[in-house]
Amino acid sequence: MDQPLNSGSSDPLASAPLNGAGEGVGERVCRSQAPARGLEGWSSRKDRRKVGYRIGAVFGAVFLVVFSWGDDGQVLAKGPANPGHEALECADCHDPAEGTVRQQVQAAVAFGLGLRETPPAVGRLPVSNRVCMDCHERKADLHPTHEFTEPKYFEERKEIAADQCITCHKEHSGRHVANTGQFCSTCHSDLGAIDKPIQPTHPELVAGERWDTCMRCHDYHGNHVREAPRTLGEAFDGRTVLRHLDSGAPLYGEKREPASGERTR
Ligand code: HEC
Ligand code: HEC
Ligand code: HEC
Ligand code: HEC
Ligand code: HEC
Repeated sequence: MDQPLNSGSSDPLASAPLNGAGEGVGERVCRSQAPARGLEGWSSRKDRRKVGYRIGAVFGAVFLVVFSWGDDGQVLAKGPANPGHEALECADCHDPAEGTVRQQVQAAVAFGLGLRETPPAVGRLPVSNRVCMDCHERKADLHPTHEFTEPKYFEERKEIAADQCITCHKEHSGRHVANTGQFCSTCHSDLGAIDKPIQPTHPELVAGERWDTCMRCHDYHGNHVREAPRTLGEAFDGRTVLRHLDSGAPLYGEKREPASGERTR
C-alpha cells in the first residue's frame, strides 16, 4: 500500500470535513499535514484553491463509494440488473479492493495531493473482462476482447472499444446490449472480398450502408448453434433484432457454450 500521508497523530479522516469546500481544506492540509514534497510550488492562492478543490472532490468520491454500498450491498445499485443477471449477487461481479478502507482513503488523499500518480480503487475494484469471462468463457468467440487490445486496433477502439465487455454490455442498464448493433461498420467496411452466395451480396450491403442488416443474419460472438441464412427474406426482421438487443429475449437459438452461474476461476 502507499505511504500514509501523515506520520503524526492528526488523522485526515477525523479532522477534514467530507465535503471540504475548496480553500479551507486546502489551507488546513497545507499548514499542518502535507509533507514538504507536496508543498513545492504551492505559492499562489490560485494553486492552493485548485488543490483544495481536488481534495474536496476526492473526499466526495470516497464518501459516495464507501457509503452508497452498505453492508448488505443492496443499497444503491446504479439501475436494474441486465437480462440474465437478475439472480446474481453484487459480490459475483464486485470484488473488494485491496487494503482497509482507511488505507484506501489515505491513498485517495495522496492522489488528491498529487503524491500518487493513479487514483486507488476505493471500496470495490473496477469490473474487468476477467470477471465476466469467469462465467462466460467462450473458447470459440468470433470477436474475443483480447484480439482488440492489439495496437493495430487503436483507431477502431476510439469508435467502439471492442476490447471491453462493458462497452456493449453496460451493467445496471436493464438492457442486453447498450447499442443498436450497427458498430460492424467500424471493422467490416471492406467486405468487397467476401464472395458468399447471399442476396443481396456483402459488397452491395456495404455500398448501401446497410449496417442494420448484419445482426439479422449474424450473432456477434458466434456462440449459437446455427448457420447464417442466405437471403434477407429468411433473416430476422430489423425490429425483432432491436427488441433482442433491448430485452435479451432469446433469438439465435441454442448456445454452444452456455454461461455458468458461478465464477469458475
Ligand atoms: C454482472 C455483474 C454485476 C453485478 C451482479 C452487479 N454489478 Fe454493479 N457494476 C457492474 C459493472 C460492469 C459496473 C460499471 C463498471 C465499473 O464501474 O466497474 C458496475 C457499477 C456499479 C456501481 C457504480 C460504481 C462506480 O464506480 O461507478 C455501483 C454502486 C454498483 N455497481 C453497485 C452494485 C450493487 C449494489 C449490486 C448488487 C445489487 C451490483 N452492483 C451488482 C457489474 C455488476
Ligand atoms: C457469476 C457469474 C456471472 C458473471 C460474473 C457475469 N455473468 Fe453474465 N450471465 C450469467 C448467467 C448465469 C446468465 C444467464 C444465463 C444465460 O443467459 O446464459 C448471464 C447472462 C448474461 C448475458 C445475457 C445472455 C443472453 O443470452 O441473454 C450477457 C450479455 C452477460 N451475461 C454478460 C455479462 C458481462 C458483460 C459480465 C461482466 C460485466 C457478466 N455477464 C458477468 C452469469 C454471470
Ligand atoms: C463490440 C460489442 C460487444 C462486446 C465488446 C462484447 N459483446 Fe457480448 N454481445 C454483443 C452483441 C451485439 C450481442 C447480441 C447478440 C447475441 O445475443 O448473440 C452480444 C451477446 C452476448 C451474450 C449472449 C450470447 C452469447 O454469446 O452467449 C453474452 C453472454 C455476451 N455477449 C457476453 C459478453 C462478454 C463476457 C464480453 C466480454 C468478454 C462481451 N460480450 C463483449 C456485443 C458485444
Ligand atoms: C473491432 C473490430 C470488429 C467489429 C466491431 C466487428 N468485427 Fe467481425 N470480425 C473482426 C475480425 C478481426 C474478424 C476475424 C476474421 C477476419 O480476419 O476478418 C471478424 C470476423 C467476423 C465474421 C467471420 C467469422 C468467421 O470466421 O466465420 C463475421 C460473420 C463477423 N465478423 C461479423 C461481424 C458483425 C455482424 C459485426 C457487428 C455486429 C462485427 N463483425 C463487428 C473484427 C470486428
Ligand atoms: C442475408 C444474410 C446475411 C447478411 C444480411 C449479412 N451476412 Fe455476412 N454472411 C452471411 C453468410 C451466409 C455468410 C457465410 C457463412 C458464414 O460465414 O456464416 C456470411 C459471411 C460473413 C463474413 C465472413 C466472410 C468470410 O470470409 O468467411 C463476414 C465478416 C460477414 N459475413 C460480415 C457481415 C456484415 C458486416 C454484414 C452487415 C453488412 C453481413 N455480414 C450481412 C449472411 C449474411
